[in-house]
Amino acid sequence: MTAPAALCVLVTRRLSVDPLPFLRARLGEGCGVELHDSDDPMPRADLLARAASADAIVATLSDRIDEELLARAPRLRVVANHAVGVDNIDLRACRARGVRATNTPDVLTDATADMAFALLLAVARRLREGERMIREGRFTGWAPTMLLGLELRGALLGIFGFGRIGQAVARRALGFGMRVAWSRREGTSAPSAPRIPADLQTKVSELSFDEMLAQADAISLHAPLNASTRHAFSAAHLARMKRGALLINTARGPLVDEAALAAALASGHLGGAGLDVFEHEPKVHPALIPRDDVVLVPHLGSATVAARRAMAETAMAEAARVLLGQEPLHPVAPR
Ligand code: DGY
Repeated sequence: MTAPAALCVLVTRRLSVDPLPFLRARLGEGCGVELHDSDDPMPRADLLARAASADAIVATLSDRIDEELLARAPRLRVVANHAVGVDNIDLRACRARGVRATNTPDVLTDATADMAFALLLAVARRLREGERMIREGRFTGWAPTMLLGLELRGALLGIFGFGRIGQAVARRALGFGMRVAWSRREGTSAPSAPRIPADLQTKVSELSFDEMLAQADAISLHAPLNASTRHAFSAAHLARMKRGALLINTARGPLVDEAALAAALASGHLGGAGLDVFEHEPKVHPALIPRDDVVLVPHLGSATVAARRAMAETAMAEAARVLLGQEPLHPVAPR
């Protein structure tokens, strides 16, 4: 099947792959690319204006694709998200208007799981405090009781959301001798039980959400953001976590009530947190900034050269497939 002439693909951010040759190789020389060639998000007004002439949008997680935008985009056929998370897209509104939505699963699984584990190790072994001690010239020699942390071997890691990334984190944790349990949020819109791959079936157990909160020495979040997971870690839930437990979030910031997390750390109830994502990203709750028991990174979960290249290629290839009348490989639909 050949693409109709004068297709226009809007790419809302500078990517790891140059979009023009990539898309023209698939859609023909007549394909036009509108690129917001910047590391900063496209201003909303520009996004709305440029969507008007777009047949496809290659979007990033900060681009809100909602009814307001869709209403101004009469030619739009596909929103190809350069992310596995799709909480920036109103999937119902897309379906109602016959606009396909796609994401980039798999290619970022290992990179994101590595980041979750890096944060877990950094918080458990108090790397931030140790680093600062040296850089401030306060390291005067080894001491038997200095900066003691949590030993991972034997500790219980609770994994909230047991999809691809949660499972990849489980494999890493098992390699470190941790016990691993997973849990999902109970509730009417909770997802059905995940398929547990054969290599994990006898090595991980399921706990109820409350059991996980009460028993885990550390909890790592890997659930998508939706109505049933927003503030899954509210003040009440954080209070039910084991005293001294660690919280790691590489999923989406609004899974956690960030003010409540800061309070749970300040009271000494929680032992530390490793955060790659934030409730009001890119803002971070000011009470978290000075804390030594918190490791903060700026949404770097998938930020490896290989993963970002594969994400760019996957998203653009998905846009091209839909414009060529083919079924996308990674469609997402409202649940
Ligand atoms: C995603 O893919 O959803 C990440 O948050 C961006 O890497």
